[in-house]
Amino acid sequence: MNRQCQNPLCSIFLILALSITTLSNCINAQTFMEPPTANLNSTWVNNFSTLVRDNDSKRLQPILSRGTGSTGPWFSCGFYCNTSDTCLFALLLFPNSTLTRDAKVVWSANRNNPVSFKATLEFARDGNLVLNDAYGSLVWSTNTSGKSVSSLNLTETGNLVLFDRNNSTVWQSFDHPTDSLLPGQKLVSGQKLISNASSTNWGEGLYSLSIANQKLVAYYMYTGDSNTPGQQLYYQSGNEIKVPIDKTGRSYIQYEDGSFGEHNIGRAAQFMRLETDGHVKIYEWSELGWEEVRDLLSVFVGQCVYPMVCGNYGICSGEGQCSCPLALAEDKINYFKQESERQTNLGCSPNTPISCNYSQFHSFVELNNISYSSLSAAISIGETDSVNCKNRCLDRCSCKAAVFQYQWNSMGSCYLLPTVFSFKDVGQDNFTVAYVKVQNPPKKKSKTARIIMESCVGALFGAYFTITNILFFLREKNESKEVADGYLEQLPGTPTRFSYQQLRDLTQDFSKKLGEGGFGTVFKGTLRNGTKVAVKHLNKLELVEKTFLAEVETIGNIHHVNLVKLIGFCIEKSHRLLVYEYMSNGSLNEWIFSKNQVVSLRWMSRRKIILEIAKGLAYLHEGCRQKIFHLDIKPQNILLDENFNAKLADFGLSKLIDKDQSKVVTTIKGTPGYMAPEWLSSFITEKVDVYSFGVVVLEILCGRRNLDRSQPEEDMHLLSLFKRKAEEEQLLDIVDKYSEDMQLHGTEVVEKMKVAVWCLQNDFEKRPSMTVVVQVLEGALIDIGDNLDYDFTNPPILRTIAAAAAIDEEEQDVVAAQTVLLPSVLSGPR
Ligand SMILES: *[C@@H]1O[C@H](CO)[C@@H](O)[C@H](O)[C@H]1NC(C)=O
Ligand SMILES: *[C@@H]1O[C@H](CO)[C@@H](O)[C@H](O)[C@H]1NC(C)=O
Ligand SMILES: *[C@@H]1O[C@H](CO)[C@@H](O)[C@H](O)[C@H]1NC(C)=O
Ligand SMILES: *[C@@H]1O[C@H](CO)[C@@H](O)[C@H](O)[C@H]1NC(C)=O
Ligand SMILES: *[C@@H]1O[C@H](CO)[C@@H](O)[C@H](O)[C@H]1NC(C)=O
Ligand SMILES: *[C@@H]1O[C@H](CO)[C@@H](O)[C@H](O)[C@H]1NC(C)=O
Ligand SMILES: *[C@@H]1O[C@H](CO)[C@@H](O)[C@H](O)[C@H]1NC(C)=O
Ligand SMILES: *[C@@H]1O[C@H](CO)[C@@H](O)[C@H](O)[C@H]1NC(C)=O
Ligand SMILES: *[C@@H]1O[C@H](CO)[C@@H](O)[C@H](O)[C@H]1NC(C)=O
Ligand SMILES: *[C@@H]1O[C@H](CO)[C@@H](O)[C@H](O)[C@H]1NC(C)=O
Ligand SMILES: *[C@@H]1O[C@H](CO)[C@@H](O)[C@H](O)[C@H]1NC(C)=O
Ligand SMILES: *[C@@H]1O[C@H](CO)[C@@H](O)[C@H](O)[C@H]1NC(C)=O
Repeated sequence: MNRQCQNPLCSIFLILALSITTLSNCINAQTFMEPPTANLNSTWVNNFSTLVRDNDSKRLQPILSRGTGSTGPWFSCGFYCNTSDTCLFALLLFPNSTLTRDAKVVWSANRNNPVSFKATLEFARDGNLVLNDAYGSLVWSTNTSGKSVSSLNLTETGNLVLFDRNNSTVWQSFDHPTDSLLPGQKLVSGQKLISNASSTNWGEGLYSLSIANQKLVAYYMYTGDSNTPGQQLYYQSGNEIKVPIDKTGRSYIQYEDGSFGEHNIGRAAQFMRLETDGHVKIYEWSELGWEEVRDLLSVFVGQCVYPMVCGNYGICSGEGQCSCPLALAEDKINYFKQESERQTNLGCSPNTPISCNYSQFHSFVELNNISYSSLSAAISIGETDSVNCKNRCLDRCSCKAAVFQYQWNSMGSCYLLPTVFSFKDVGQDNFTVAYVKVQNPPKKKSKTARIIMESCVGALFGAYFTITNILFFLREKNESKEVADGYLEQLPGTPTRFSYQQLRDLTQDFSKKLGEGGFGTVFKGTLRNGTKVAVKHLNKLELVEKTFLAEVETIGNIHHVNLVKLIGFCIEKSHRLLVYEYMSNGSLNEWIFSKNQVVSLRWMSRRKIILEIAKGLAYLHEGCRQKIFHLDIKPQNILLDENFNAKLADFGLSKLIDKDQSKVVTTIKGTPGYMAPEWLSSFITEKVDVYSFGVVVLEILCGRRNLDRSQPEEDMHLLSLFKRKAEEEQLLDIVDKYSEDMQLHGTEVVEKMKVAVWCLQNDFEKRPSMTVVVQVLEGALIDIGDNLDYDFTNPPILRTIAAAAAIDEEEQDVVAAQTVLLPSVLSGPR
């Protein structure tokens, strides 16, 4: 058997010098000398007795070999080991009869259970072929004991066969493929090719190829939510690949002449392999080496169908080019980075990892013009709208992204993804939007503070503990006393007082952020009785408790169907929180400004919403004991419940931010674009709300923002455009273009624009009161007057005189302005 070395010294040298590559050169000229068959009662030991190295310095100790002639392909099976002594009983394909280094493994018995030095292969007397490891324990067998097996033959096609005495096949390696097929080999329903885990890990990997329902199918295996394994179909054959049925009724594909498109089998060695990245490739030997002659599935469906073609979060375009979602976080750093600068197909990872402990900082990056088909791992929410779809994703810590497929109007199918595979860029609107969850880094300041605190606590914990405890105890006592003084016992119908811990519990530690506004951050929560609430954590307001409580009492006493109801509040140390009823359809801006033509409210809904906003405002201005100015009317502050009823949010809060109401000059937050001209002048009245309402009405009717930088310069300001179109008597031009229904009701819409004009008068005295607006909207015949002024001043942009600027999530330009208010406006109840 040992043909390279005739004397024992040489054998020892061979064993010792395994890693010296020059050695293989001395083998190169050799040809195979092993027999093609074996008889019962034979045993082979993995003892490095004969050696062949392939191109990757792996070695083979051949047991059986067979081939045709000296130039045709040859096969050899035996112990095949990598340099770390991980060995398989494997079958290799050689390009010719020379023991070259260019062999390819086309089958192996024990890829998931490798053996090592001294392992044995036994063709037992009872006909069983058994692989045992060095300690004699069973690793693999053909299970053919007692089946009258008479011989083990390696065929010329590379099939390892156990025959019985009647020459019929009892077992063959062709029935147990690994990741490759050889010419002539069939893949029959019930059998499966499974890729290697990687080029160095020979174990089973994540891709599989099999036959199902008379189709060739390819799957990607993943680990889903809570570690359950799952499969994602990524290829299913059509007419391009024939899947016939054999005599026994099983469907199969056969790797033979003409089976896979136009590529034919010549004389040269050839094989087909399911690669570690899910591709199915055919290789053929040529003078230059192994050549990839066909990328089977990609020919039919392109390069981007492979679920992990661009890794996690990657976006595949064209011929498999990969990129990462492009979006900047607040700190102007990209949300995503390439896993590897050189290998873009390894995917992307978030710069700030998604953390469930900081879910109040979660938001979404929106991807359009994409498709995403790896939905097997997704949790289907069924039919809903995109806002709810996003919210469901925020609700669920395991949700890494939401995919929303529009079906009709604003409705569509919503899927939550526990893992994000590659997206495909389709370069056109495909009615599919992906919302990829991202983590906004917590504000730097608080981070530093936390680190300092943690280190302090860490270092001084022992000494600190008692002191803090005492201080805390004292402060708690103090606080409860203050509260008792400041707040009377709870009356029915008044807001409930919650402790900070209670709110933490019902918001799951403030983990579900709904939004962020001028006054603070809003989180979703659920009361014990199941009622959903929105908890607003007010920005560092050093409010005197008495004032805060008085305001809460006032706001809590205001009940109207078109005002968001205050359910409760919390005041504890520096925390100030308000608990509101939960509005499941989010805010109006999400429904009227969508560039996506399918999400858009119908005319009936918009008309109803306009009336409801007017009613809410009228109540604030005239229906309560106390006149309340909203001062920040804009679509973000108009919320919609599950039936699309509109309710005003954030009313009364302007008062809360006044630290000292005895001062005439006060700081008020408004939003540019919605602020009446008199914000710049001496005093303001409730008519500033009427003006803002006019802007909102126009926005609803035109389906665009007042200031829309995506428009050509002359159309950027809706009010200027409105004026121009009014003069040209072409108001139909500006009715929401994205909504067919709005276009259909164009004349009615234009009619309603008159109300907006009235509300937008520069002279606030010419504007109607909200009560009158409601009457007009309800159809009362009130003479609006002919001398309406169409020369709207664009609402002031107060950047330059801003006393303090805050960043609003949507607008990025909420400003605070110093202005003089009539003292009566903001004082308490009269
Ligand atoms: C099996 O082989 C061993 C040695 O290889 C031999 O001693 C034994 O007699 C054989 N048994 C039979 C039944 O052939
Ligand atoms: C290795 O085992 C084979 C049988 O598989 C035997 O013929 C050969 O002598 C052994 N060689 C060494 C060096 O032990
Ligand atoms: C077999 O292939 C090797 C390359 O691996 C080549 O050097 C050799 O000439 C070929 N032998 C024959 C007989 O074609
Ligand atoms: C032999 O049988 C065992 C147990 O039934 C099974 O796990 C194993 O896969 C079988 N081996 C082959 C090669 O079919
Ligand atoms: C299998 O090999 C044995 C032993 O060499 C031989 O007698 C037999 O004819 C072979 N059977 C087939 C079907 O090739
Ligand atoms: C071989 O064939 C004969 C006749 O067809 C049959 O009687 C016998 O059972 C077969 N033996 C095996 C091992 O299948
Ligand atoms: C089995 O096949 C071999 C060669 O292929 C042949 O010589 C032998 O007669 C066959 N035996 C039977 C029982 O058919
Ligand atoms: C798969 O594993 C085999 C060993 O079983 C190895 O020779 C082959 O190169 C691997 N295939 C790929 C695509 O890495
Ligand atoms: C040898 O194979 C084992 C199992 O696939 C793998 O873990 C190991 O890294 C490989 N060693 C080398 C040097 O390739
Ligand atoms: C063998 O490996 C070397 C370097 O890794 C490579 O350049 C060469 O093309 C390989 N030979 C074949 C036939 O694949
Ligand atoms: C559009 O998206 C759907 C679902 O994601 C997908 O099935 C379809 O192929 C996509 N269309 C294009 C043109 O990619
Ligand atoms: C749940 O509790 C809140 C606050 O106490 C109350 O407003 C609401 O009506 C309750 N809901 C139900 C379904 O009991």
